[in-house]
Amino acid sequence: MSTHIPRKATTPAAVRARKGGEPLVCLTAYTTPMARLVDGHADVVLVGDSLGMVVHGLPSTVGVTTEMMILHGRAVRRGTEAALLVVDLPFGSYEASPAQAFDTAARVMAETGCAAVKLEGGETMAETIAFLTARSIPVMAHVGLMPQQVNVTGGYRVQGRGEDAERVLADARAVEAAGAFSVVLEKIAEPLARRITEAVAIPTIGIGASAACDGQILVIDDMLGLFTDFRPSFVRRYAELGQTADAAIAAYASDVRARRFPAPEHTFPGN
Ligand code: KIV
Repeated sequence: MSTHIPRKATTPAAVRARKGGEPLVCLTAYTTPMARLVDGHADVVLVGDSLGMVVHGLPSTVGVTTEMMILHGRAVRRGTEAALLVVDLPFGSYEASPAQAFDTAARVMAETGCAAVKLEGGETMAETIAFLTARSIPVMAHVGLMPQQVNVTGGYRVQGRGEDAERVLADARAVEAAGAFSVVLEKIAEPLARRITEAVAIPTIGIGASAACDGQILVIDDMLGLFTDFRPSFVRRYAELGQTADAAIAAYASDVRARRFPAPEHTFPGN
């Protein structure tokens, strides 16, 4: 008989209630084993469309499909018990209309078992967020730097400096008014992140934003030193697993070439 007692999963409402309280710990995950590791520590596990770059080697998140999000969402669901599971809606799967967003979000939720979706966009997506939340789809919004817009913006610059601050603030207010239960603030000027956090009643989750945010999120492969194609300045590396893996693979290659592996204990006797 199994002695495993399932832990109660964190809900969007519980995340919403953390406004101004203990900071929310959020991380991405893309696979079952990583989700199991993250689930023991985090309040929110996000299957981010960053998986396009981190797992699939794409140049940006623009090529990520709903099918990719569902495949990884299902894998992460198997490793997530206590944290709130949120899955990103990928580029092209929700922007055309609220109805398109509903169809995609409902499919993602039904096929992955996630409890909420995340989508990029402020004022322009407010109508869609209101449409989804009115139809029982909890939405985590994402403003500031929106990587899915890279072909328009032409890069990944810091947002909300100078006069641009009012635009980002208006975006945050718009998603709050539309019913989002939380909002990711990506790569915006620190004073603005602080100001938005004070201005809105929903938790702000910062990435390259401010320690004053109601929570923080990082891409797991970035903070573990596994994704080394580039190193955003807002990432703190908590490990260098890429280097550890490289040394282990080099040791294996050397052992195979020198016939040191397999050793007798790794082989099977004939009788
Ligand atoms: O795709 C992603 O991983 C994200 C986080 C960086 C917030 O959107």
